Amino acid sequence: MCGIIGYIGDRKACDVIVSGLKRLEYRGYDSVGVVTENGGTLHIRKGAGKIGELEKKLGLSELPGTRGIGHTRWATHGIPDDTNAHPHTDCTGRIALVHNGIIENYLELKEELLKRGHIFKSDTDTEVIAHLIEEELKTAANFEEALRRALNRLKGSFALGIIYSGDGEHLYFVRNESPLVLGIGKGEMFAASDVPAFLPYTNRAVFIDDGEYVILSKEGYIVKDFRTGEVREKDVHTIEWSLKMAEKQGYPHFMLKEIHEQPKAVKEAIYGNAEGIADIAEEIAGYDKIFIVAMGTSYHAAIAGKYLFQRLARKVPVVEEASEFRYEAEGLLDENTLVIAITQSGETADTLAAIKLAKRNGAKTLSIVNVVGSMATRISDLVLYTHAGPEIGVAATKTYTTQLTVLAMLAIALARHLGTADEQLLNALEKRLYELPDLIAEALKHEENLKELAEALRDRKDFFYIGRGISVATALEGALKLKEISYIHAEGLSAGELKHGPLALIEDSVPVVAVAPSGRTFDKIVSNIEEAKARKGFIISLGDNDELMKISDVFIRMPEVDELLSPILYVVPLQLLAYHLAVLRGNDPDKPRNLAKSVTVE
Ligand code: AGP
Repeated sequence: MCGIIGYIGDRKACDVIVSGLKRLEYRGYDSVGVVTENGGTLHIRKGAGKIGELEKKLGLSELPGTRGIGHTRWATHGIPDDTNAHPHTDCTGRIALVHNGIIENYLELKEELLKRGHIFKSDTDTEVIAHLIEEELKTAANFEEALRRALNRLKGSFALGIIYSGDGEHLYFVRNESPLVLGIGKGEMFAASDVPAFLPYTNRAVFIDDGEYVILSKEGYIVKDFRTGEVREKDVHTIEWSLKMAEKQGYPHFMLKEIHEQPKAVKEAIYGNAEGIADIAEEIAGYDKIFIVAMGTSYHAAIAGKYLFQRLARKVPVVEEASEFRYEAEGLLDENTLVIAITQSGETADTLAAIKLAKRNGAKTLSIVNVVGSMATRISDLVLYTHAGPEIGVAATKTYTTQLTVLAMLAIALARHLGTADEQLLNALEKRLYELPDLIAEALKHEENLKELAEALRDRKDFFYIGRGISVATALEGALKLKEISYIHAEGLSAGELKHGPLALIEDSVPVVAVAPSGRTFDKIVSNIEEAKARKGFIISLGDNDELMKISDVFIRMPEVDELLSPILYVVPLQLLAYHLAVLRGNDPDKPRNLAKSVTVE
């Protein structure tokens, strides 16, 4: 969480930083700050609020200088106010820094620094780093040595951007368990938490690894290991994403644009993986002990993945939240284990910890990732990309449907390799998969109806989403979408669970969204709908069987599709419903309160 950016070159640094912060805002939006250097003086402006509100108010675009750093915050330590906004400075005001992450030993360091006479201005963990460098600078030969010494005392996760007024030539950046990428320009250099921040200027990028720091100048960069001081050679990657892809393109919100991009995104996921998937399937075919780990929406994809693996490849993966797996799986993993990690960002702290744990124990790791070059891709044995393009809205939409697409392709390829499913069935599924982009476009046509439905339901307090089999994933994801952007309480559950407790909460007009594609358990969910209806629940059903029309208050007719592929299609109306409810209730769906897109801290 939090976004950092730095620029050094000939342009007005504040312009590059402010525009980059706007593209990083999805990482956090509690407060904003910028520092530039001009003639040996640091110019700092910062405050609580979003960049759109603060740009003019603070005069962020008036800061002089061609070198600077900026920050958009998602608060961890200290409330989001003006004082706790980054950058933070040392006592002399010569060192300013921005931070993404958490310093776990900050209290201990703060106490030590207070005893040495340092004066703290904020409640953040970040400020200790500035004072620590200041303290080390008293005895170090130069700034770099002071920085290295300080870094070696820090525990926790940190991506840092540092500017020192005593060194007019450089900026310093650090990575440890929080993302950092350099943008390589001609006579100018960039550093940021994520590529879109500098995409208008360059598509050449260097991904920094844990334990590394960077000395950035106009002309280039030096990357070193902060433990040993050794210089590290780095590869330069060319980023295929265009700036246009990371813009709203006329949509009021990124989320709506990303929902509508799903036909294209799913197509890219299919064509981007069509060639390589059989090889990956072959590599993992021998594993019978399989874990699928992920968080949030990606975890819901993992649940759908379990059904796909079971039904087609006759493998039964254990699906676990990465935050649980990382503390539970020690002793359960060996070289006969396969751990599949699903992560849009490739930077989620818990998911990375799960991959690292798997590797330490000799397990094979396969990651399904959207962000090219992200940490998960660099530490996993095998990688499948979702090819969804940049997703800026905090709520995952197109990255979810592309994760599901990749999982379906993998399960089909695995089944084909193992001979665990009828070839005719696999061919039919594959054919339908290729038709999915058109079917999603069909499903998107429900938008007007869903907008009207949102109008009717805008003041409801609780929603229930039910599904059976693979549709449990859709129910969970539908509920998560609603919760995170509309702030309405919602529960997603397997329909069979309803009468074991939650049915007690269904009373007059409580919306019950039933995800009911034709398939194995269609009759069963019809009974569950009847049970909810008998308690006067307001039934919204999604399906392709007319029977649903008779028992529902609202029926959303979906194109026919095999049950196993239905999650890719059925989640679309649920995303639209959540989106329109959020907008009607006056929320910004791109920036839901208290959340950030990448959870890079535990
Ligand atoms: C859902 O809309 C959220 N964006 C969130 O649950 C997300 O899926 C989760 O934080 C995992 O992120 P990842 O896929 O980048 O690892």
